[in-house]
Amino acid sequence: MSALEKKRRAAAAALRRLEENTPIGVGTGSTVNCFIDALAAHPVRVRAVASSEATSARLAAAGIAVIDLNEVSELTLYVDGADQATRRRHLIKGGGGALTREKIVAEAAREFVCILDDTKVVDTLGSFPLPIEVIPMARNLVARRLARFGGRAVWRQGCVTDNGNHILDVHGLAIADPPTLESALNQIPGVVTVGLFAERPADVLLVGTDQGVVEI
Ligand code: A5P
Repeated sequence: MSALEKKRRAAAAALRRLEENTPIGVGTGSTVNCFIDALAAHPVRVRAVASSEATSARLAAAGIAVIDLNEVSELTLYVDGADQATRRRHLIKGGGGALTREKIVAEAAREFVCILDDTKVVDTLGSFPLPIEVIPMARNLVARRLARFGGRAVWRQGCVTDNGNHILDVHGLAIADPPTLESALNQIPGVVTVGLFAERPADVLLVGTDQGVVEI
């Protein structure tokens, strides 16, 4: 079975957690695009906060009401993908560059459901380079500080985030303690968002496999 088919399976499983007419958060990426397509064809109506301009446009095109996070106090559900995940539901996110708004929307959600295919579940995070969104003027400074953590930061050239910032992809980290590293990296001046989602992990992983969907 293809990775796309596994993503579709995971996305379809997330639909079962929807509640009629409640505000939800919708993440960014190819797996979430499967979710949006399935949501558009689903009878339950929801309003959605988007984690990126791309998702906002896709939701609107699908006829799903897009609302501002400032209009609601809590989201019942946040559905998003990930680049890597552990069985403890710690994540690396930001491969699509939307990590800052994704982290904000995740924080606002009562339940964060992460949808992914089984190739992304790992014992230790870090073989996927860790994305970090930075203020442009601090890019080289942050890269030098990241070297102290054993990481080699590579500027994602040509990428400007929805917030007008740059992305560093950090190679060579074996992340043994995700919450502690997330907290430490957040202290570097110029860092906007670290693509580790560990202090606020996913609540549930829905993993698409050849056999079906596994819930972790
Ligand atoms: C977007 O910035 C990311 O956090 C995505 O959630 C992540 O890259 C997963 O994307 P795919 O679903 O396209 O693999």
